[in-house]
This record gives sequence, C-alpha cells and structure tokens, in this order.
Amino acid sequence: SDKSETIGDIIARHHGQEGPLLPILNDVQAEFGCVDSESEAMIAHGLNISRADVHGVVSFYHDYKSEADPRPVVQVCRAEACKARGVERIIDAATKAAGERVKIETVYCLGLCSAGPSARTGDDLHIRLDADGITKLVENA
Ligand code: FES
Repeated sequence: SDKSETIGDIIARHHGQEGPLLPILNDVQAEFGCVDSESEAMIAHGLNISRADVHGVVSFYHDYKSEADPRPVVQVCRAEACKARGVERIIDAATKAAGERVKIETVYCLGLCSAGPSARTGDDLHIRLDADGITKLVENA
C-alpha cells in the first residue's frame, strides 16, 4: 500500500543513523497524524527491534498519537507579526467557538505577516481576522 511504501521510505531515510527510532516516529507522526499499531509493526520490522520496544517509546511521548485526530483543524498564527496585530486578543473567541469539536492549532507564520492575524483551514488562508471573523471561521470548520 501507499502507507507501507511511505513508511518504508521514512525508515530507509533514517536507518543508517544513530538512534533512528525517534526521527522515524517523528516523520510518521507528521505524515499520518499518528503512529498506529500497523505503523509500529512496520517500524519494528524495519529496524529489527521488537514491537514492544517501539510501542514503549510511542506511548512514552505524548507527541505520538495512536490514531489520527478526526476533528477539523484551524491553524492560527501566533508568531510576532500576528501578535503585534492582536492575535492574542482573538484566541479566546476561537477557543470558545471550537469547544471540543474543532482543534485549534498554533502555527508560527503563514507568510501573511502584513495582513494578520492570519489563520489556515485546509488549503485556505484567512487574513485580518477579528473576534467575529475567527468565530465564523471556526464555526464553519
Ligand atoms: Fe503571522 Fe507571519 S507572523 S503570518
């Protein structure tokens, strides 16, 4: 499958280096939004270590998720320029509108610094957000 190919590529990329497990897990998490048990098995096989060893590391670090987060994501820029343009004043509105349904993710610079506060949903970029704007954005996510 595509997934096993991708994981194979990731393993190959880090295989020769010292302590390859964490970089591999980081890449798998970034690529798939989780390190599920299928991925653990492939990584264990690829590195010739036990699944229990892989699983132990995955469950130790909170950054690794066993399944992808199904919620829609709104990425809000909280880097300098957007801070200067008031993003911290609209974050509460975003969080409130999000509740448990939407995931608000902090990112650092979306390349729209002169038109911040900025946010991204999927491939869409949003600029000059105020509290109402970000509330609508989150509600429609
Ligand atoms: Fe927010 Fe650059 S600092 S887009």
